[in-house]
Amino acid sequence: MPIITNIEDLRVLAQKRVPRMFYDYADSGSWTESTYRGNETDFQKIKFRQRVAVNMENRSTKTQMIGQDVSMPVAIAPTGLTGMQHADGEILGARAAKKFGIPFTLSTMSICSIEDVAKGTDGHPFWFQLYVMKDRDFINNLIDRAKAANCSALVLTLDLQILGQRHKDIKNGLSAPPKLTIPNIINMMTKPRWCAGMLGATRRDFGNIVGHVKGVENMSSLGAWTAQQFDPALNWGDVEWIKKRWGGKLILKGIQDVEDAKLAVESGADALIVSNHGGRQLDGAETSIRALPAIVDAVGKQIEVHMDGGIRSGQDVLRATALGAKGTYIGRAWLYALGAMGEEGVSKCLELIHKELELSMAFCGHTNINTVDKGILLPGTFPTA
Ligand code: GLV
Repeated sequence: MPIITNIEDLRVLAQKRVPRMFYDYADSGSWTESTYRGNETDFQKIKFRQRVAVNMENRSTKTQMIGQDVSMPVAIAPTGLTGMQHADGEILGARAAKKFGIPFTLSTMSICSIEDVAKGTDGHPFWFQLYVMKDRDFINNLIDRAKAANCSALVLTLDLQILGQRHKDIKNGLSAPPKLTIPNIINMMTKPRWCAGMLGATRRDFGNIVGHVKGVENMSSLGAWTAQQFDPALNWGDVEWIKKRWGGKLILKGIQDVEDAKLAVESGADALIVSNHGGRQLDGAETSIRALPAIVDAVGKQIEVHMDGGIRSGQDVLRATALGAKGTYIGRAWLYALGAMGEEGVSKCLELIHKELELSMAFCGHTNINTVDKGILLPGTFPTA
């Protein structure tokens, strides 16, 4: 077993262990992937101010996201097809998050269902991410199912009514479960651990949807499903009825523009997530960390501002926190960990990020995450409003 010391180690291991179409699904952006790559590289450009001879005892990364206690300002992002990275992936991720004391967000496009995850975590609250489909009865039902499962926040995604093209998914013929074509069989034969796990998996198709929507063809292909079922007419009026139906904490995901951030405030949501969907939708959009300061400046006093996109380390969490994010989300980082080593991998990923965060925070002269601000960053190296 290789010694894992960082997220890149987990990515390399996942690439070995996960069938190509699912690994590629995670490790892809849309079109040229410029926003996907930029999300990561723009973090690297932001430098810290090293401070010394500061008492570094009793370090704490504990804080709150939407009024809920978290052991660090990091949540697991909603990611589609997670149960294809590893058998029962969503249940394993939710368990690791529960143990670590951070929120787990289940995607609408998950393999394990809302009910599977609730059962697998003994009713521990998790967050549920909602995609809005044309079938409003199904959406109402999905919201009610999330309530019944004790979900403690609804994360409404606003940037995926239509799908940005990811070349590899088309070339690989991405579907869940994978079609038993000769190239897929040959590739899966090189992933014996994955196959063994999948034989015993709770589910191998879209658990929130199969059996709950009528008249759906081509269920297994995400592209076809999105084109057929997702509602391209989604608008701020829908946010209003969804908020009413849900009645709990609401987080709006996919805000990149100050004008949209102001509309998010008007909607009465509890938080917004500055996000370009991990560079998977509008290729050429601003990177998340560069979009963050202007949004914090414009609305940070009226709504909690979170961010995702490009976080691969605790240093990145620290940079986002310094620029005003009250919470961050990891997507690919946790998927690589899951594909590499299942629940143990996800726990490892969270430990690594936590350790990097608290040590780096201390090197910058702080022992409590709640006191961190732009002052820890080197002027001229970070984006401003
Ligand atoms: C869905 O959320 C995707 O980005 O594939």
